[in-house]
Amino acid sequence: MHRLWSDTLQRLSPYAPGEQAQNSDVIKLNTNEHALAPSSGAVTAGQQLDVERLRRYPDPTSRLLTEAIATANNVSFDQVLVTNGSDEVLAFAWTAFLSDAHKVPAVPAMTYTFYPVWAKLLGQGLHQVTMNSDLSIDVEALKAWDGPVVFPNPNAPTGLSLPLETIEGLVAHNPNRLVLIDEAYFGFGAASAVSLINQYDNLLITRSFSKSHALAGLRVGYALAHAKLVEGLRRVKDSFNSYPVDAYAQCVATAAVSDSAWFTEASAAVKENRAELAAGLTQQRFSVLPSEANFVLASHPEHTGIVLTEYLKTQNILVRSWSSDELLPWVRITVGTKDQQARLLSALADYLND
Ligand SMILES: Cc1ncc(COP(=O)(O)O)c(C=O)c1O
Repeated sequence: MHRLWSDTLQRLSPYAPGEQAQNSDVIKLNTNEHALAPSSGAVTAGQQLDVERLRRYPDPTSRLLTEAIATANNVSFDQVLVTNGSDEVLAFAWTAFLSDAHKVPAVPAMTYTFYPVWAKLLGQGLHQVTMNSDLSIDVEALKAWDGPVVFPNPNAPTGLSLPLETIEGLVAHNPNRLVLIDEAYFGFGAASAVSLINQYDNLLITRSFSKSHALAGLRVGYALAHAKLVEGLRRVKDSFNSYPVDAYAQCVATAAVSDSAWFTEASAAVKENRAELAAGLTQQRFSVLPSEANFVLASHPEHTGIVLTEYLKTQNILVRSWSSDELLPWVRITVGTKDQQARLLSALADYLND
């Protein structure tokens, strides 16, 4: 605290990003980065970037990237807005649509922990909806809420997803409130709601290149929605930072989204490794939630998530756990390469059989 801190600053509780290990010996399964390297075509496109594009400001509309995303998703240019990671488009959405005192959004009680941070930043409340006993989202409670609704599909950190019919039912239930679906974990099995955006102008989808395209270091995310919602987001963007996506990121992400062969193969590889990881954990008596993301949430009958995380850290393996009551038994493990997963499972076996 400092005497010059504003009231807004004093009430913030900033998001704590997952540990980013600098040491290359560490097996990093704590922040849900993709197991594979990104598209080689995308890497080459970045290496060949004309330096003139670095001397100049980048295109503020990210035109080529927006067109490529629109084509890949079968939507029009004005239904897409590209930003610096999906955290940024979520922050824009909070400012654009979720900052009025009479429009407090409902979120699942167990979900992405950045949502309360944006709510606080904007001096706004948040209505937390208790999870069902199987840790799935209570859709009926969200339906009953008379205000906007925000949740990831698949949810984080559970990895559980809702089917498209359920999402459509929720969106159609009340056309006068926003339904924001955070599809950060798109591409690993859950159905996307993108096919609904032409029909419902109260649906906003956010996506990320961090997970689906193995480009977390690039910081690119985007929104897909009715053109008027996208216009609202653009108005916030241009009132905050008109050039959020740099020239290099635009170039690499455009090549990445156009490489559909990489996407298909990489997504299949993650699903295969996820099934192996879940089977390996189950063999060691973990309960594993059926995930459609590139991570699994697992609990052991005898050890809390924190104890397992601390032990694995001594073995140079990073995973994620929490101190809150409801998440205490759980450990979240990112799907890794086959070799990384074998090392994780063998380290766990050493500990559990000791
Ligand atoms: C549910 C959810 N939404 C959004 C994000 C942010 O992703 P990005 O890297 O695009 O900012 C994450 C990152 O972990 C996430 O888990």
